[in-house]
Amino acid sequence: MDEDRRIASVEEVPEDGTLLFTVRDGFDTEEVVLIRLAGDESGDSSPPVAAWKNYCQHWTDVRLDKGSGAMVRDGEIVCQRHGATFERDSGYCDFGPCEGAYLEEVAVAVEDGAVYLVDDRYEFANLGPSGEHDLSTGSRIDFSGT
Ligand code: FES
Repeated sequence: MDEDRRIASVEEVPEDGTLLFTVRDGFDTEEVVLIRLAGDESGDSSPPVAAWKNYCQHWTDVRLDKGSGAMVRDGEIVCQRHGATFERDSGYCDFGPCEGAYLEEVAVAVEDGAVYLVDDRYEFANLGPSGEHDLSTGSRIDFSGT
């Protein structure tokens, strides 16, 4: 696997949150979150992580992960703006104002305990936010600081 496309080790992806990273598409950047999937006690060989674009499907300028991990409750990603919930393994919104929509998937693969970007639409840019968010102007009323 190409080391330039290595995102993180599987261990770095939290069980109860998300790991934010940024991809590049030409001059544009987009944020993506990695999330752990349920264990594979059934012996199923699907990758232990999934990657979704970091934008709610209700208001697509709202980020699910603002830099310190999205809220994950009962295995679902929760948008803190209006409470939509998205299944971590399918990206399907099963509750909230965008019910029935799907988060946009980004293709990743796991090899030797590390997660790689395999989506050929994108280059891996960096771990963390894209740098396009100025915290002084981007704060939202739901920012709790906790
Ligand atoms: S912006 Fe995410 S639920 Fe409204």
